[in-house]
Amino acid sequence: MCGIVGYIGEKQAAPILLEGLEKLEYRGYDSAGIAVFDGTEIHAKKSMGRLKILSELTHGGETLPGTTGIGHTRWATHGAPSDMNAHPHFNQDKTIAVVHNGIIENYMKLKKKMQDKGYTFKSETDTEVIAHLLDYYYKGDALETITKVMHRVEGSYALGIIFKSEPDKLYAVRKDSPLIVGKSNIGNLIASDVPAVLKYTRDVYFIENEEIVCMTKDDIQFYNIDEEELEKQPATIEWDIDAAEKGGYEYFMLKEMYEQPQAVSDTINPRIKEGKIVIDELGMSDEEIRQIRKIYMIACGSAYHTCVSAKYVFEGLARIPVEVDLASEFRYRHPIYEENTLAIIVSQSGETADSLAALREAKEHGVRVLGIVNVVGSSIAREADNVMYTWAGPEIAVATTKAYSTQLIAHYLLAMKFAQARGTADEKTITEMVKDLKKLPGQIEMLLENKKKIQKFANRYLATEHVFFLGRGLDYAISLEGSLKLKEISYIHSEAYAAGELKHGTISLIEEGTLVVAVATQEELYKKTLSNIQEVKTRGAFVMAVTNVGNTEIEKTADYVIYLPKTNPYFTNSLAVIPLQLFGYYVSLGKGLDVDKPRNLAKSVTVE
Ligand code: AGP
Repeated sequence: MCGIVGYIGEKQAAPILLEGLEKLEYRGYDSAGIAVFDGTEIHAKKSMGRLKILSELTHGGETLPGTTGIGHTRWATHGAPSDMNAHPHFNQDKTIAVVHNGIIENYMKLKKKMQDKGYTFKSETDTEVIAHLLDYYYKGDALETITKVMHRVEGSYALGIIFKSEPDKLYAVRKDSPLIVGKSNIGNLIASDVPAVLKYTRDVYFIENEEIVCMTKDDIQFYNIDEEELEKQPATIEWDIDAAEKGGYEYFMLKEMYEQPQAVSDTINPRIKEGKIVIDELGMSDEEIRQIRKIYMIACGSAYHTCVSAKYVFEGLARIPVEVDLASEFRYRHPIYEENTLAIIVSQSGETADSLAALREAKEHGVRVLGIVNVVGSSIAREADNVMYTWAGPEIAVATTKAYSTQLIAHYLLAMKFAQARGTADEKTITEMVKDLKKLPGQIEMLLENKKKIQKFANRYLATEHVFFLGRGLDYAISLEGSLKLKEISYIHSEAYAAGELKHGTISLIEEGTLVVAVATQEELYKKTLSNIQEVKTRGAFVMAVTNVGNTEIEKTADYVIYLPKTNPYFTNSLAVIPLQLFGYYVSLGKGLDVDKPRNLAKSVTVE
């Protein structure tokens, strides 16, 4: 999605803006631009393509002198990627510049009205409407102008705005798209996300919906839509700056895969006290947990896959019905809400538009909402009734790995907590499971050491066009994730199938040499999966199997076997995912693709 930055202070703004935008590159973009006030005029430079081009065009920012400015990386939603459609956008006499992340849903209606009033538009974007609306309402009071525009526009926005007539101020405003403010000793900054300001400050304000920021080089004020001043406290960001850098790995994705043991451990440990599961942030007593009759689990993409896994764990362990939904489906399918329901919204970024909308839909119907979120202070984290953070740290690669793994941990902990409270698992069971849980980081670390072996295997499949992932129960759930990991970063078509379903059609696609990845960790389903492997083998498939150590008979059927260390059957997805992540990573690497920033994808999908 788009990224916005802004700076006002003692230093030259342009180099700071360019650096900040670089830290937001992971959000995906196709063009970029900056605007700087030089004391007399607001000058801008915008260009298609990577930030490097913009930096070269501005000689690293030198051609745009001035200490107040805004910047933008654009992920096109309205209007194709082009220099003209790149932000910042201006009003006609270039006295107001604006950058925007989000979508103005009523922009066509507003654009028509502005054109009828004589305004001419240069771009195809929804954002330009904001620039002209600001112009239309501006009578000398920027704050009043901004609130008037807020009342007119519908949709989502994080805006950075500079007014030529208010040269010592920078404004920002937020509704539904993320926005943070950084207070530093070189001046004040705005950005879409924390990494853009970490070089200058750890003191960050998270902006709520319909809050307006007015900042000078020394001061920051916050207002609501009624122009009432607000008191806000900054959060202190613990992330080291290198935590958002690559740290010596070739790609963020590999770095983040190797951070999984620590991330899993950080997510488990604060929630185990004297061998018991303690989840204070859940905000529910055991009695309230016992009242819950149904759980919705709602998310997108990989986060959704963790919900598919969680259904098996929750229903198996806590004996509570779980309904899993894609957020984009949930928000429009008019669910039949019942009493004593809990909705769990899972999201790494906490800003996924469909997941946020599903959260609001559930809340509107009186459903209690728990967020499982990685980004502190994100919208889903703030709007859920309670939030259980996954302590994965910043995840930059578009393809999620450590956030996915910590989401699984959060699900396990919740299921164990619910089982504890509902008495569906006795103390001995929980104690044994806690022991297995605590072994996972070490086991993940051990599996990561397989990387060379998996890279060798992956290099044999760089030219393959189709891959099928199979499994039953939890093995089906992890097949979904393995398939997504492969296709989103290698651009190879792959599908995940419940192993028992293949014969109902798709097996017709299996031919000589087709690669099939079969996951067989669930002992009670192992024989069944083995027969599914035989089915595809007889049709010529090449089978890579992922199974538990000791199941050596599978070598009679599968062509290539990866063994996982023993763990609780409910936890096997946390181990099986490691070779599948490595496989996808090394196929993408072998194809010479941009592993961290795959084509067409964004790290956080903050629009529908
Ligand atoms: C996973 O590798 C993808 N990047 C994508 O499916 C992602 O999981 C999905 O967009 C949900 O994002 P969220 O967890 O930030 O809500």
